[in-house]
Amino acid sequence: MKKHAVLLALSALAVAAMQTGCSDKALTYQANIKPILDANCVSCHVPGGEGYEKSGLLLDSYDGLMKGTKFGAVVVPGSSVGSTLYRLVSGQADPSIRMPHGQASLSDEDIATIAAWIDQGAKN
Ligand code: HEC
Repeated sequence: MKKHAVLLALSALAVAAMQTGCSDKALTYQANIKPILDANCVSCHVPGGEGYEKSGLLLDSYDGLMKGTKFGAVVVPGSSVGSTLYRLVSGQADPSIRMPHGQASLSDEDIATIAAWIDQGAKN
């Protein structure tokens, strides 16, 4: 079941990579990532929210996302596999710190979008 989901995510990613590879349409934070974070993450990752208070990670702006947690960056431009952000939402991290915390995981499409955005260089 879990393997299947990973495979699905990977194939969605391959499709996304092919689609973006053939055109100039680059993914950006404003157009592609902010809507995902607004819908799934911001409730906890703003001042007063559980996620922000524990990790220092602000998810309501590009600067906040790129700044990362009080321990360091969660996005490594060009490397989704090296990015904590991708590892957490794709379920590769320990379930106890999987994001969104205690809620259903993101759709395969959203996860693939985040991975492709990071791999393209995480542009604003
Ligand atoms: C229900 C509240 C909640 C939601 C929703 C939530 N988070 Fe979190 N987040 C937390 C908490 C709490 C922590 C602190 C982690 C801990 O110490 O357990 C955290 C920590 C993190 C961290 C840092 C982990 C680390 O290695 O230090 C990242 C990255 C993160 N969240 C990303 C996200 C993303 C992306 C989303 C949306 C897909 C999201 N979070 C949604 C509560 C939430």
